[in-house]
Amino acid sequence: MKFSTKLIHSGRPADSITGALTAPIYQTSTYSQESPGSPRQFEGRGLSYARTENPTRAGLENALASLEDAQYALAFASGLAACNTILNLLKSGDHVIAGRDLYGGSYRMFTKLYTKFGVEFTFTDITDMNEIEKAFRSNTKILWLESPSNPLLSIVDIAAASKIAKAHGALIVVDNTFATPYLQSPLKLGADIILHSTTKYINGHLDVLSGALVTNDEAIWKELKFYQNAVGAVPGPQDCFLILRGLTTLDIRMDKHCTNGKKVAEYLDGNKKISRVYYPGLKSHPGHKIAAMQMKDFGAMVSFDLKDKAQAVTFLKNLKLFTLAESLGGIKSLVCHPATMTHASVEPAMRLEAGIGDGLIRLSVGLEDPEDLVADLDQALKLTLS
Ligand SMILES: Cc1ncc(COP(=O)(O)O)c(C=O)c1O
Repeated sequence: MKFSTKLIHSGRPADSITGALTAPIYQTSTYSQESPGSPRQFEGRGLSYARTENPTRAGLENALASLEDAQYALAFASGLAACNTILNLLKSGDHVIAGRDLYGGSYRMFTKLYTKFGVEFTFTDITDMNEIEKAFRSNTKILWLESPSNPLLSIVDIAAASKIAKAHGALIVVDNTFATPYLQSPLKLGADIILHSTTKYINGHLDVLSGALVTNDEAIWKELKFYQNAVGAVPGPQDCFLILRGLTTLDIRMDKHCTNGKKVAEYLDGNKKISRVYYPGLKSHPGHKIAAMQMKDFGAMVSFDLKDKAQAVTFLKNLKLFTLAESLGGIKSLVCHPATMTHASVEPAMRLEAGIGDGLIRLSVGLEDPEDLVADLDQALKLTLS
């Protein structure tokens, strides 16, 4: 089945009892059992308790696995709950390599939570294969990649990085939140586990918090599934239903997101007063060629530098259409100031080392008319930079 067909059909067969075309929301916390310890079997899954299995959630998991041409997917209550479940694979004394430029919440979980349990982290420039090679130790268990990265849209050569990690016997995790399965297929480039914050493009409507993990490795899936149930950070069936509904238009939304993102990036790039625009679709982006190879298109996240925090704050106040808010990947265009918002938990020195300055602005370009979006940026920049 082609991708668009999968978006419409996978994970949501008509209800086997009523024929209802839209898969039902199984709003229940538990299931009746006919004899103790032998849960009812439904669509290949045993139904004992809704933390362990829920048919609406199963539909979402089946759909997400199918979109990555994968065997297995697991849904979680948030992207960070999914991120936490990957780290549950580790034990004290294990080591993880990650990029300096990554989502602030992942960095916070690594450094403020997992270091407490004796897990060690090295943050390096993962766009440079020599730096990745140098960071490996005998106890390295995971190479954690985010591409495109949040907030600087850095691009990692996933296939090359995966080769290095495999030679060292480490697992490769790719946070595919910015790209989605429509634009990038990390399992085909060598990744072992894909992480999605499905809160973002996959749901796409700014109304659900959720996450997912996708893998082809049965042993990894079994262990992750054990933690999914043992820890219990699962999404409710209403949320799964909304994500399944949002998913049906992922390809159409992503195409328009990418068109709009490119127009916004080109406008900003042409503005002489802006020193730097971060968008992998620009030929000047250091990762452009790799992005063109491993992605179908370049996405709709665009960042750029203003001079300092004061200038950034003025610019944000002058915007009319872009909403100042955390999150991304939804129908409405959002703007964020990473230094004080999404990346506020990253220590200032680490932030600056990663290149996340106090003047950095991150745009999540939505589905409005691109002329209106560019006009809004233009009027706000004129007021700010005049
Ligand atoms: C790249 C990336 N990964 C993971 C997450 C965490 O997802 P959630 O907010 O759904 O917990 C985010 C959130 O912004 C993100 O941008």
